[in-house]
Parts: sequence; structure tokens; C-alpha cells
Amino acid sequence: IDTCTCLNADVVIIGSGLAGLYTALQLDSTLKVVMLTKDILSESNTEYAQGGIAAAICREDSPGIHKDDTINAGHGLCEKDIVDMVVSKGPKCIKSLLDYGVKFDQSEGEIALTREGAHSRRRVLHAKGDGTGKVIRETLEKCLIKRKNVKVLEKTFAIDIITEGKEVNGVTYLDENNKCKIIETPYVVVASGGASQLYSYTTNPEVSTGDGIAMAYRAGAKMRDMEFVQFHPTALYLKNTPRFLISEAVRGEGAVLKNPDSERFMEKYHPKLQDLAPRDIVSRAMAEEMEKFQCQHLYLDISHLSKDKFAKRFPTIYKTCQKYGLNLPGDLIPVAPAAHYFMGGIAIDFYGRTNIKGLLACGEATSSGLHGANRLASNSLLEALVYGDNIAEYIKENPLESNVKNIEVTTIGTPLVVKDSEEELLTAKMWELAGIKRNRKKLVDLSTYLNQKEIGLVENRDEMEYVNMLTIAKLVCKGALMREESRGGHFREDFPFTDKKFKVHINFIKNEAWTS
Ligand code: FAD
Ligand code: SIN
Repeated sequence: IDTCTCLNADVVIIGSGLAGLYTALQLDSTLKVVMLTKDILSESNTEYAQGGIAAAICREDSPGIHKDDTINAGHGLCEKDIVDMVVSKGPKCIKSLLDYGVKFDQSEGEIALTREGAHSRRRVLHAKGDGTGKVIRETLEKCLIKRKNVKVLEKTFAIDIITEGKEVNGVTYLDENNKCKIIETPYVVVASGGASQLYSYTTNPEVSTGDGIAMAYRAGAKMRDMEFVQFHPTALYLKNTPRFLISEAVRGEGAVLKNPDSERFMEKYHPKLQDLAPRDIVSRAMAEEMEKFQCQHLYLDISHLSKDKFAKRFPTIYKTCQKYGLNLPGDLIPVAPAAHYFMGGIAIDFYGRTNIKGLLACGEATSSGLHGANRLASNSLLEALVYGDNIAEYIKENPLESNVKNIEVTTIGTPLVVKDSEEELLTAKMWELAGIKRNRKKLVDLSTYLNQKEIGLVENRDEMEYVNMLTIAKLVCKGALMREESRGGHFREDFPFTDKKFKVHINFIKNEAWTS
């Protein structure tokens, strides 16, 4: 540890996705803020968000209807007061984005709205067609650069949250030269995103290894709902090609799923909403069709749209598919489900507070109670904004002095040598044994595998990421074993029905697990 170059700050934010960026902008400009981000600022799930951001802003809609849709999609585990708070703040957050300069797409002089799975209204705002995340990030980044009180450290990998008793003291990190350093601070905001890189097939970029969730867990923070992972139905399926997302908004504009016999099949699985059923239902239906046909992917048919309309509405998808040799809208798009979003994470309250004083969290790293067992599409960008705002308000009303006496960082354990192949094996095991369809045998096998893996002293960033992934994999596996039912993103072949006795959250602190 290089303590000579020890920085200090009023607030340290880990992550530069929407949750981190918006928190930084909403914080009082008299506060000294340091933002750590492990790649360049733009690299995050936020950057790739396509469909848009959900908010009840049109006459036919209301926060009450948005609330009902969110709760219906969440399969009994949404916290109703939290849903109410988030959807009610939706229109205000959109106004704030407009004030920061975000330009949403327009239609006939008004903000254009699309529909996505399980939304009963068109309420999803988008920008540059399917470039919503990038547009929001670019706009907010421009605003952030003007904030003299915020120092952004890129290529800086947060390692651990330092606590004394149950209070935050600081953060350790690897700087861009791989030197380990400390920042003293009374407030740490974990905005480090999800962990879908735990699965071999994912829509997420490489940064999504769940570091902040694992850090908070090591620091003694409460984890919740870790077994709920959302698999997006339509990731591009081509050999040697990343699982690029084909937005649900494409189905919102009328595209339909087909099996290898060119038949539509969603009516069998959800007669009412069909191709726009909640994601967990569509992904599972696809898994069943793929088993039936013994195939690795199905198809998305967008041929009802004209080329011009498709290219204008979904320019990123159009260009990416074209790059991989697909001629849209005529060609069928090969698609299969992929890990997309972690519903579980660090348990937070209304203000983004955890059970550790000074440790706050927002965005995909958290379990706020908004999503329950299955997130409603486009609610996560909204959640990031709402909690960024709540956190800023909380810090303003509760200023903390740095309480650092003498930071001591101790490391224990034996050196751990992580080979690239270990990470690959871990993600393959997660896909096979804790993926869309789980059962006791698979999960016990996974647990045995994970328990053989040592978590020891780590020396570089790759090893740290691996250890973080392993930590989260163990929590996903434990939660999935404990939850002997099927609900939302968690499906057990041996317990295929929802059981009301499991209408509870599964929580972890250190090695203790309980339901509440
Ligand atoms: P992220 O945007 O993932 O940001 C996390 C940040 O933390 C990154 O900057 C990362 O580098 C940094 N970080 C991580 N670990 C460390 C560390 N150890 N040290 C320092 N920095 C670290 N949601 C919607 O609502 N609408 C959509 O249309 C939509 N489309 C999506 C499309 C795709 C392809 C994907 C992958 C997700 C989509 N989502 C969408 C989900 C949504 O994008 C994310 O849930 C949301 O952006 C999360 O924001 P965040 O700020 O919490 O995390
Ligand atoms: C999508 O565009 O399909 C992703 C939307 C989301 O994950 O909320």
C-alpha cells in the first residue's frame, strides 16, 4: 500500500455508469468528490443501454399504472413503497435529464415513447433510436467535466472498502500503474453495476464483474435476492460473435419470435402478451423451444418493418447486424437468451443506505426492492437516477467528517494464482448449473465446484475480478439452493411452481443467511 499518495475526499463514488454519474452531478458542489472507474469513463452497462428509460409522462399513463406493471413483473417480491417512490419520481428525473441537455427522440413534436415487455403503456423514452445509454452518458459527462469539485480517476480499480467497526473509513484501489493506494473518506457510494459477466453468455461488457457487490459483502454489508438473475431473451447468436443485444423495443415495434419451423410460439406460453410477455417467461419459453428442436438459437422476424424505418429507429442494431453479414429487415435474426441483469445485490433503503454507516449504493449493484424477482424493462436507468438523487439529498442533510485515525489495511491468506481458463470454467459452470433452468443436483454440483476454489491473497486486477466473481457465484448458488420454488428470474425444474411460503427475500451477511 502506498500511503504517501493517500488522497482524501468527502465522497468516493465507485463507478461511472448512470448511477455514479448522476450521483456526482446531484451532490452539492461544495463537496470534494472522487470517482473511481476501472476502465475509461464511458465503459459501463449504461453505455450500451438501447431500449430506453421508463417513466409515466404521457396522458394515457400515470405513476400508478407504472407501479402496477412493475409489481406484476416482480412476482410478489417488489417493495411496494419503494416502487411507488421510484415511479412517482420518474417524471421529475426525466425533467432533470432534459435540463442537463439530454435530447430524447421526438414524434410529432412530443417525446416519442415505445413499449417493451410487460409494460401496459408506451412509456419508454429513447434517444438516437437505440442509442439511449450512450446519449445520456455523453450528455452527463459533458456536465461533469465542468464540475471542479469532482475528480475522475479512470483505469482505477477499486479493491476494498475500509471500515472500522461498522463505519466507512476509505477505499483501497489500484491506480493506472497497478499501484495500490488509499483514499480516506467518510462516504463511499458503490455504483459499480451488476455481475452478468459471471455467465459465459451475456449482453454485458467486460467491466460487469460485480466488484462493488463483492467489496460491500466483504465489508459486512447485507446482500439480498442474489438468486434472481435476468436473462434477456434476444441476444444475437452467431459463432465467434459477442452476444450483442437486440433490444426488446424491436419486439415493442412488432417483431416476433419464431422457431426453426418458422412458427410463432409465444402464444402457447403467454396468450395475452405473447412476444411482449415478461422477460423471464419469454426466456424460459425460448429455452423450451430450443430443447424441443435441439437447437442453439431461435429467430427474430422483423420483416414487417421497412428497411428505412428499421435503420432509422434502430441504427446501432441495424449497423451491427449488417457488420456480421445479416441483411435486415429481410433476414431472420438468430437470437438466444443471455445473462443481462442482476436483480439482487447490496440491500439498500430509501436513501441508498446500507447497514454500514457511510456506505451507500445505487444502480444495478443494489437490491432496492424495485425489481422484485424480475425487473420490468427500462426501469433500471430510472432506478439509477432516483437513487443518485436520494443519495445526494441524504449526504447533504447528513454531512460527515472524515473520522480516520490511522488506516490499517491487512491482507491475509495464501497467494492465489488464477489462470484465464479458471474464469472461463467458472462462467461455463454458472451458465450450465445456475442458468435459466436450475435444479438441486445442478446447484449442489456447482456448490461443490465453488467450494473447492480458494479465495486467497490476490496480486493483480484479473485475480481480484476473479475472486469477486467467485464470491458472487457462491451467493447466487446458495440463494438458488435455498429457494425451493420458481419465481421470476429463478426457475427450479424440481420446484416448477411459485410457493407462497417463499414470498420472502433471502439475505446474507458474511456467512449468515436468513429469510425476511
Ligand atoms: P453500470 O452502467 O454498469 O456502471 C458501472 C460502473 O462501475 C462502470 O463504470 C464500471 O467500469 C465501474 N466499475 C465496476 N467495478 C469497478 C471497480 N472495481 N472499480 C472501479 N470501477 C468499477 N436498462 C434500462 O433501463 N434500459 C435499457 O434500455 C437498457 N438496455 C440495456 C442494454 C444492454 C446491452 C445492457 C447490458 C443493459 C441494459 N440495461 C438497460 C440495464 C442498464 O443499462 C444497467 O442496469 C444500468 O446502466 C446500470 O447502471 P449502473 O450505473 O448501476 O452500472
Ligand atoms: C432492451 O433494450 O431490451 C433492454 C432494456 C432493459 O434491459 O431494460
